[in-house]
Amino acid sequence: MKINETVEKALNEQINRELYSAYLYLAMAAYLDDLNLPGAAHWMRIQAQEEIGHAMKLYDYVVERRGRVVLEGIAKPPAERKSITDVFESALRHEEEITSHINNLVDLAQEEGDHATVSMLKWFVDEQVEEEDSVDTILQKLKYLGEDGRSLITLDRELAQRQG
Ligand SMILES: [Fe+2]
Ligand SMILES: [Fe+2]
Repeated sequence: MKINETVEKALNEQINRELYSAYLYLAMAAYLDDLNLPGAAHWMRIQAQEEIGHAMKLYDYVVERRGRVVLEGIAKPPAERKSITDVFESALRHEEEITSHINNLVDLAQEEGDHATVSMLKWFVDEQVEEEDSVDTILQKLKYLGEDGRSLITLDRELAQRQG
């Protein structure tokens, strides 16, 4: 069954949010590169790539359901941050916001009786649990280690290990 317009519009909005997420994390990577924390910047670059993957997953799904993908402008992400802790705190807040959007999308698909979209979104529901957890884990480490030079070098080395 062809996707209905309400669900199509909502999925297009989510495509935009995922692309904004990529842009937001790339801006965070640029800030971290500027702080001379290449490992943390690398972690954020991979995060940005993952968000493009999320956008493309939704894109492919809309096409598969014979809908139309419409791309809108992507908002400018903040360039300035207070610290690496501030970066990961903002990332966690952002992921929590995305989680509520995903939940709203599931509610909408359910209201519209669109079982296929509910099923597709299940992947995103699970992914958001992982996304929030991985950012929170880094945040907790930062809180225990503090932001002195030695701690940051240790953490930066660890974040450099992230595989794409
Ligand atoms: Fe995402
Ligand atoms: Fe995400």
